[in-house]
Amino acid sequence: MSTANLFRPFSLKSLNIKNRIVMAPMTRSFSPAGVPTADVAAYYSRRAAGEVGLILSEGTVIDRVSSSNDPNVPHFYGTKALAGWKEVIHSVHHAGGSMGPQIWHMGIMDNHHSGWLPPAPFEGPSDLNRPGFSNGVAMTQDDIDAAVKAYGKAAAEAKRLGFDCVEVHGAHGYLIDQFFWEGTNNRSDNYGGQTLAERTRFGVEVIKEVRRQVGEDFTIILRLSQWKPADYTFKLAKTPKEMESWLEPLVEAGVDIFHCSQRRFWEPEFEGSDLNFAGWAKKITGKATITVGSVGLSGEFLAAFKGESSEPSSLEELMRRMDRGDFDLVAVGRPLLADPNWVQKIRDERLSELKGFSREALMQLL
Ligand SMILES: Cc1cc2nc3c(=O)[nH]c(=O)nc-3n(C[C@H](O)[C@H](O)[C@H](O)COP(=O)(O)O)c2cc1C
Repeated sequence: MSTANLFRPFSLKSLNIKNRIVMAPMTRSFSPAGVPTADVAAYYSRRAAGEVGLILSEGTVIDRVSSSNDPNVPHFYGTKALAGWKEVIHSVHHAGGSMGPQIWHMGIMDNHHSGWLPPAPFEGPSDLNRPGFSNGVAMTQDDIDAAVKAYGKAAAEAKRLGFDCVEVHGAHGYLIDQFFWEGTNNRSDNYGGQTLAERTRFGVEVIKEVRRQVGEDFTIILRLSQWKPADYTFKLAKTPKEMESWLEPLVEAGVDIFHCSQRRFWEPEFEGSDLNFAGWAKKITGKATITVGSVGLSGEFLAAFKGESSEPSSLEELMRRMDRGDFDLVAVGRPLLADPNWVQKIRDERLSELKGFSREALMQLL
């Protein structure tokens, strides 16, 4: 097996990276009062020094009072937080890396275990985080308009600070995904509807505003998932046709790259083909895609939160799909959280030096 195709450069608009490996966005909650510290900058710059092609930041929230349920999740607004992010991108560039922030609004959330609450109720398409669980309020048209603007503003700040691209978090049951999912979007206005295409309207408005604020040449990545935290087997798009009705309006709005979140990259998306989500998204839209999910590890990430450890595993199936042209980039989460030098070990075939992943790695910024 050769991993040569992982080590080809990639360029798209403002993004010019030396290899195809992307650090997956991973929330670390080490930014007190929303401000990324020098430790956070050092954590990301170690990955840049370790030759990760593109670093995506942990989710960092937009300027809405209830966009976060965690006081240690970084903000992407406000003088102090943005000064912290400026240090982050400066250190990453200094170490030879490229980076984009993952712009996030959590939507309706469970309360944080610390008991901390934002000063206003959580907001979403409805009051629901999942069917039967209400913990906030349905957004008014004014709320929606302000949130859309705030996504755009955050992306514009990313460009102004010198980041190489921006990723919008539209996956994993957070705000944008709450609009996509009929289990949380029961609106009867233009943002709701029986079809996935109708429920995509909020996401389309966000991407259009981001594009308006960053201009044509800044690379926009959109992260999507079929699965929901409340239902790992759920599929928003049940057929390729339905997937087309979801993704095409997002392409027209301005998405450059789809980041297709799966728990296990090798799982086929639809019957009758072994293509995964990133494979189908690329086939349908012609856009570049990122695959993700248990690359190089034996167990998936949600089980890892419950304490299950994972061992290093072969990249053979990944390379079979990549060599076939299914996707352009490969995101890696836990292996890079635990080991800043994972990329070099793969490139140099120092496989005996690869580490597994266990929950202890989450306790500090290694
Ligand atoms: C500690 C941790 C935090 C995460 N936080 C985020 C996040 O902020 N945004 C996001 O889109 N995904 C998040 N994820 C999911 C990862 O980006 C990735 O999709 C997942 O871990 C699967 O990749 P892996 O199997 O290589 O770890 C997180 C995962 C982990 C392990």
